[in-house]
Formats: sequence, C-alpha cells, structure tokens
Amino acid sequence: MSTVIFDSNINDDRRRRDLYAGQIYAYSPTSATTALCQLARDMCEEAFAPHDPEDAQYHLSVEQYIEILKSLKPAFIHHPRCKELIRQILDEKRCDLERVYFDVPRLRTSTSDQYLTSGLAYAFKPHRDTWYSTPQCQLNWWLPVYEVQPENCMVFHTHYWDQPLKNSSDEFNYQDWNCNGRKAAHNQRKKDTRRQSEALESVQLEPELKIVPEPGGLIIFPAAHMHSSVPNTSGKTRISIDFRTVHLDELNTNGGAPNLDSACTGTTIGDYLRGSDFSHIPETMRNAYENLECSSSVPDLVMV
Ligand SMILES: [Fe+2]
Repeated sequence: MSTVIFDSNINDDRRRRDLYAGQIYAYSPTSATTALCQLARDMCEEAFAPHDPEDAQYHLSVEQYIEILKSLKPAFIHHPRCKELIRQILDEKRCDLERVYFDVPRLRTSTSDQYLTSGLAYAFKPHRDTWYSTPQCQLNWWLPVYEVQPENCMVFHTHYWDQPLKNSSDEFNYQDWNCNGRKAAHNQRKKDTRRQSEALESVQLEPELKIVPEPGGLIIFPAAHMHSSVPNTSGKTRISIDFRTVHLDELNTNGGAPNLDSACTGTTIGDYLRGSDFSHIPETMRNAYENLECSSSVPDLVMV
C-alpha cells in the first residue's frame, strides 16, 4: 500500500527511491508553485473574460469553449515564464538541475457534469502514464490552479502498483500519436475516437486515494501509478497544471519503477529539457531509447 508523505525536506535521491517504490509526495504551496499557478490564473481569466474560468462552461457553447482552449492551452505551454518557474520549483525541491530534465507544463481543464470530456478536455480513464511511451523513471508533478475538492480532483488506484492490468499499450506509439492523435484533439467534441492506451479488462476503482492540495500545492508521483480523473460532479471546472521529470541516473540504466504491463513503442525522451539550461537530452541517449522495442528491456546506453 502506498504512503503519502507530506512536506518532507528529504533530498531528491531518497525521494526518487521512495517514489519508485510506489510512495507519493505532497507539498504545500511555495513561492514558485504559487507564481506558476498565478500565471495560469491570469491567462485563464483573460481568455474566459468576462466569465470566471471555473464557471465559464455555464455561459459558453461547447464550440465557443473549445475555441478558447485551442488558443489558451498552447499559449500557456509555450509561455517562456513557465520554464523559468519550473526550474525554480525543481530547485526548491532539491533537484540537481544538471541531471534532472522536465517537459513543458500542460494546462488541464476538467469540466463538470460531462459538459466536455473529450479532445481538449479529455477525461482520463484509469491509466498509467507509462502506457504512453514514457520512460519507467518518469515522475509526474501535479498542481491545482484553483481549489479542488473530492468531487473534481484526481484519484490514485494504488492497488495496481504491484498488479498488472491487461491494456492496449502495445498499440500506442508516441511518435504516431504526435503526428496524428494530438493534432486532432480539437475535433473530438463528444466521443474521443483517438487511439489511447486503455485498460482492456474491468478496473477495480476501489479503494481510491484522493489527495486534495490547496491551490499551488503539489503532488509528485511515479508515472507508473494507476490514476484517473474523478468524474467531475462539483459544479466547477477543475483547472490544473502538470509536468514531468526524469533523472539521468535512471535514464542511464532504464531504471525507475517496475514495468508490470506496459508494451508501448516510441518514446517521450525527446521532450525533456535540462533544468539548468533547457537543453535536450543528449542525442546518444535519445537514440538508444528510440531504438528500444519495449521499455522493459535495458538499453545499451552511453553514460551521461
Ligand atoms: Fe496521467
């Protein structure tokens, strides 16, 4: 059973060891996480004006809502201030900025009462991120922008940490997804028809673990943990930020969390940027991961 560890000042090496054993870390807001959330709030409030971003779904048609998200989400993802603030967050959390890499942050919107659950506001069913071509060592960092509650937060199904689940990850290739699936997101208004990795047998959702941080609070969890979006019945759109990190020590050995059931191809390794200078992962390592057929095998990697 996983443990949630709050506001620990443990160093990053020990924290990663815990995370790869299935533990979860949660933190109170800091100056950098608060600044990142404030940037998201400012951009959301400008985009949805004159409506409150948490309530805008009740004032806009689905088509109008999608049009706003089509501009807002990429504008946030590529805002130069985001990278600076993530570097500050990593620094606050005692990461070695020379060896930790991150990807650009995503802005997520989970609307209430099934207003929009596909495409740009995809409601994530139970999944491991490792079903989506991530290295087994990927860690996920998640922050709510506005208040969340048990009716609209994310949820962990921690009993699957050591229990495989039949899934369709063998059909998922990240490079194919980038060429086809991601670009088609804004066309998915009702039912999402894009090829996603998903469970192929019934998922036992209970017991559920929900963590409800305050805005700017932070949850760090291994990408291999099974998790999903709570079907939002709160009456408020949940807006959250997430980004991912990997560490060279684990990339060098294809280490990290155990791989129980992921068989996807392709790799997200080209997405990560070094904490110190935002450079990409060295090409030798990118090539080694791109040539991997299955993330459970150990690549012949050049140490970096
Ligand atoms: Fe996820």
